[in-house]
Amino acid sequence: MDHSLLSSFIFTFLFSALLISPSSSEKCNPSDKKVLLEIKAAFGNPYILASWKNDTDCCSWYNVKCNSTTHRIYQLTIFDGELSGQIPAAIGNLPYLEMVDLNNLSNVTGPIPSALGKLKRLTFLRLNYLNLTGSIPSALGQLNELTLLYLNSNKLTGSIPSQLTQLTNLNALNLSSNQLCGQIPVGGKLQSFDASSYADNKCLCGAPLDSCK
Ligand SMILES: *[C@@H]1O[C@H](CO)[C@@H](O)[C@H](O)[C@H]1NC(C)=O
Ligand SMILES: *[C@@H]1O[C@H](CO)[C@@H](O)[C@H](O)[C@H]1NC(C)=O
Ligand SMILES: *[C@@H]1O[C@H](CO)[C@@H](O)[C@H](O)[C@H]1NC(C)=O
Ligand SMILES: *[C@@H]1O[C@H](CO)[C@@H](O)[C@H](O)[C@H]1NC(C)=O
Ligand SMILES: *[C@@H]1O[C@H](CO)[C@@H](O)[C@H](O)[C@H]1NC(C)=O
Ligand SMILES: *[C@@H]1O[C@H](CO)[C@@H](O)[C@H](O)[C@H]1NC(C)=O
Repeated sequence: MDHSLLSSFIFTFLFSALLISPSSSEKCNPSDKKVLLEIKAAFGNPYILASWKNDTDCCSWYNVKCNSTTHRIYQLTIFDGELSGQIPAAIGNLPYLEMVDLNNLSNVTGPIPSALGKLKRLTFLRLNYLNLTGSIPSALGQLNELTLLYLNSNKLTGSIPSQLTQLTNLNALNLSSNQLCGQIPVGGKLQSFDASSYADNKCLCGAPLDSCK
């Protein structure tokens, strides 16, 4: 190849690389992006999620992590900020999530969505120091990979669903400081935690707490 041919080849290559780069730089999975924007809208487009903008790559957004190979969202973490409203069911449409961590957001209210039960890869679920109400959804018993479940310091009512005995990989549990009542279901890992995982509720009973009357 002579010199001029080589340089025109390099020029053409660089020029076309420039032309295609805006679209090829977006790695984010389009479905994940759509769901994240739905979640942002459900929380009323709060400032804490200002980096979640439709015209940018969701793999570069704050509060989420994107797998470097698959470019799917695998972590959602929001804490200590100003976030208000209910956790939207759309969160169940991020099928590659392994970790959901929403904590210390006193204006997050309403129920824990049952749709979280769809997140089959979830290993870490922390929804603590929020103001969640309603009961613990039995659908959480479907999360076979779950190793950590922290729902402490909310206003959860009702009893602990027996389906939580199906969480055989669980090695950290905290349901304390809620308004839960009734017998702690017997089985699975639920008796492997000490009383502090269940303390400060309305009327929980049974091992590891005092036996029910
Ligand atoms: C995001 O952008 C896409 C493509 O431009 C558009 O179809 C979609 O409606 C936008 N979504 C939001 C929430 O603005
Ligand atoms: C990213 O995805 C690859 C392929 O599925 C997987 O092997 C890897 O463990 C994932 N990494 C993380 C951090 O989730
Ligand atoms: C909770 O968040 C507030 C700010 O919103 C912060 O001042 C406080 O230290 C946080 N508490 C914990 C336990 O992280
Ligand atoms: C919670 O909501 C109240 C009332 O809208 C507001 O004054 C307060 O700043 C909010 N706090 C947080 C941590 O979002
Ligand atoms: C729940 O909200 C009340 C105010 O309505 C607030 O005093 C309390 O700290 C909140 N709880 C948590 C765990 O943030
Ligand atoms: C559970 O959370 C409470 C606060 O709600 C804390 O005091 C306690 O140490 C925690 N226990 C475990 C086992 O994580």
